[in-house]
Amino acid sequence: MTSEQLAVREHLVLPRQFQDLLFREARSASAFQDEPVSGEQLAAIYDLVKYGPTALNQQPLRLVALRSEQARRRLLPYLHGHNQQRAARAPLVVLLAADLNFHQRLPELFPAGLLLRDEFAGRPAERAAQARFNALLQAGYFIIGVRCAGLAAGPMTGMDRAAVNREFFPAGDLEALMVVNIGRPLPKTRPRLPRLPYQDVVRIL
Ligand SMILES: Cc1cc2nc3c(=O)[nH]c(=O)nc-3n(C[C@H](O)[C@H](O)[C@H](O)COP(=O)(O)O)c2cc1C
Repeated sequence: MTSEQLAVREHLVLPRQFQDLLFREARSASAFQDEPVSGEQLAAIYDLVKYGPTALNQQPLRLVALRSEQARRRLLPYLHGHNQQRAARAPLVVLLAADLNFHQRLPELFPAGLLLRDEFAGRPAERAAQARFNALLQAGYFIIGVRCAGLAAGPMTGMDRAAVNREFFPAGDLEALMVVNIGRPLPKTRPRLPRLPYQDVVRIL
């Protein structure tokens, strides 16, 4: 047994099969089985990942599920290279975006929300930075949430984001972050790329 396997056995409380489902054996999917993803599945995923933490509990992530063929066709021209084909064939395509006006909901989301809402109202640049940062955190939670549903996520940022914003968010209130293809994956043929080991990443001070 390697030291990594030993540490995992001794220190991670989640049963090993779930660790594998969420991390070790989960892959970024590029091709999927021909099986739909329901609205109920997407709702169950969101109702889990909404508990992931954000600064000031601001929750700026917004999801746009491109369910109709017409909605999907609006996105495809702006995806780069093979991303176009991947999104065209995925059972469900979700556009993840940051709400630049998240501050308007702060009064109900955070104890000092009334004050914060008014402060943020006059600082659009700071607000946008916070929205992008925290919505990206939530995007990470979302990818893991998809795996909790026994599905695979194919996240993609290779797109003309300015064009996607013009197409889907002409009012400028939301900003596109990434596209996530979702479904039951076909087996991956390419081996997993290497991950950095602990000693290369962690500094103990
Ligand atoms: C934020 C983000 C953006 C990505 N963008 C693309 C993309 O535009 N096109 C693509 O084919 N894969 C994209 N990927 C997939 C990554 O290449 C993949 O997650 C990484 O190589 C790890 O693969 P694995 O999960 O199968 O080990 C993206 C992944 C993330 C998390």
